[in-house]
Amino acid sequence: MKPTTLADLSQLKKEKRKFATITAYDASFAHLFAEQGINVMLIGDSLGMTLQGFDSTLPVTVEDIAYHTRCVCAGAPHSFLISDMPFMSYATPEQSFSSAATLMRSGANMIKIEGGSWLCETVNMLTERAVPVCGHLGLTPQSVNIFGGYKVQGRDETSAQQLLDDAIALEKAGMQLLVLECVPTALGQRVSEALEIPVIGIGAGNLTDGQILVMHDALGITARPPKFAKDFLKETGNIRDAIRLYIEQVESGAYPGQAHSFK
Ligand code: KIV
Repeated sequence: MKPTTLADLSQLKKEKRKFATITAYDASFAHLFAEQGINVMLIGDSLGMTLQGFDSTLPVTVEDIAYHTRCVCAGAPHSFLISDMPFMSYATPEQSFSSAATLMRSGANMIKIEGGSWLCETVNMLTERAVPVCGHLGLTPQSVNIFGGYKVQGRDETSAQQLLDDAIALEKAGMQLLVLECVPTALGQRVSEALEIPVIGIGAGNLTDGQILVMHDALGITARPPKFAKDFLKETGNIRDAIRLYIEQVESGAYPGQAHSFK
């Protein structure tokens, strides 16, 4: 089987074909997701909440993500794996080199970091050292204590423009993929159109290039799911069909509809 690459995702964007991605934390689910046709998976620091039971992602360590990256890689060796750099693991460029090296050696194809243009130097230095970087803008969960909760971002023109400027600056610095979380649909569209790289939305409307969901949200496991989450298992009754339905609805643009988006 041919491994999925960043070039494949760029081609999908060029062809205006939407793609579905999902978080994965272990070999069994990763294998099932790949088998159903999801070729891009995120080993997200959301595992601090979904697996470890904390109320934020802050306690997660590089070693935690490295362990789960190895598990996912074993189950889905041909998928494109993005591993989250956890809280405070990229506060300085030096820290980011060491954290990224651990995650890439564990099987990651790309690392993800949360934040705006203050990260441009880090993005540039990692990219020069052969580490592909995915950015994360909008609601960045590691900043929950700055935001004062998990709130929709970019609602007014000033903050929307700031987010767009950050996205453009990060792309210029070398960022090759962007996750955009919890922003109004119109801003999701604006950012996706402004960038050449693929933009993967979560709670960012159906006009981004791709979508991502936390697997526990897609399978109805989360006790109090966010507004943008959809329980695909409820509609289908088995996990394989639920994942197929998620893929189909992302590819057709049916998910996320208005009920799962922000104005
Ligand atoms: O950690 C994670 O699962 C994420 C997604 C919410 C995109 O960053």
